[in-house]
Amino acid sequence: MSVDYLRISVTDRCNLRCIYCDPLRDVDFVPRKELLTFEEIHRIAELFAQCGITRIRLTGGEPLVRTNVVRLVRILAGIRSIDDLSLTTNGVLLESMADELKDAGLKRVNVSMDSAQKDNYKQITGFDFFENVTRGIYKALAVGLRAVKINSVIIKGVNVSQIPVLARMSVELPVAVRFIEYCPTSRQTRPASDYVPNKEVRRIIERRFGPLTSTLPSSGNGPALYFKIPDSAGCIGFISGVSGSFCRTCNRLRLTSDGKVRPCLYSAYGYDLKGLIRTGAEDRQVMSLLKKIIAEKKNFTRLNSFTEEFCMRSVGG
Ligand code: 5AD
Ligand code: SF4
Repeated sequence: MSVDYLRISVTDRCNLRCIYCDPLRDVDFVPRKELLTFEEIHRIAELFAQCGITRIRLTGGEPLVRTNVVRLVRILAGIRSIDDLSLTTNGVLLESMADELKDAGLKRVNVSMDSAQKDNYKQITGFDFFENVTRGIYKALAVGLRAVKINSVIIKGVNVSQIPVLARMSVELPVAVRFIEYCPTSRQTRPASDYVPNKEVRRIIERRFGPLTSTLPSSGNGPALYFKIPDSAGCIGFISGVSGSFCRTCNRLRLTSDGKVRPCLYSAYGYDLKGLIRTGAEDRQVMSLLKKIIAEKKNFTRLNSFTEEFCMRSVGG
């Protein structure tokens, strides 16, 4: 599998505190001077593009809280060989930013929404922003940030009842509603026993809507498998990172907000790219580290590093 996809976390800060994400770790954000600057991110992305990266996704924390993130989108959209530039957001600020993001060259967005019920949404995220996010999704569709994908993490005892409601969104709207299996990341998040396997999620959807039919994704080629409720405007995706394994076909690298390249979500190991850059390395030295990272990527999989704790907010999901 060739490595062609880079996820760039632009901040570990967030305007929500989701129960599955490490809500208690509120005080140890990356100091601002340790964040990669836009110029550094631009240089890294350019060099990665020369090493075969063709798709970039901005993540967080919440990427839309990074000051002037639209400027970064414009910079990255200007890299010729990057043909897909997307962003994963919690949607809180999306309504107000969708227009300028599209204008800056963003192609599409993934929006997190774990409940379609106001109080339940607040219970999960800590904030009463359900309506803001809903408006954000509509706005993204209206300005053409398509395909719009909705990410939902189902937690036992919290939002299982929302499964059919979320699935129904794909009937009415041209969106992909994707169920992401909850992955326990530390002792401070929900226990592993709160995880609901996607097989169970699918059973609940099929009980309500009848058998799903298999379909192909409209964009991207990540680990999701896509299906449709017959006659629906959108589709349903399952990302089964816990019950399944997609290590063998993993095509992605992650750049953390403080400038480390992580070859695997589940491995704490990160190559210190920022350290190299800030000591004045020339492009050819940086390129040789990037090539080494790409060549070594296959050595890092969940199969050999699943036991470590990590913080989803700093790695970008
Ligand atoms: N398990 C599964 N998914 C998670 N996300 C954040 N934390 C977790 C977790 N512990 C999801 C968010 C977002 C995506 C980038 O990752 O809901 O949609
Ligand atoms: Fe923020 Fe995303 Fe973590 Fe929720 S899951 S607290 S939206 S970074």
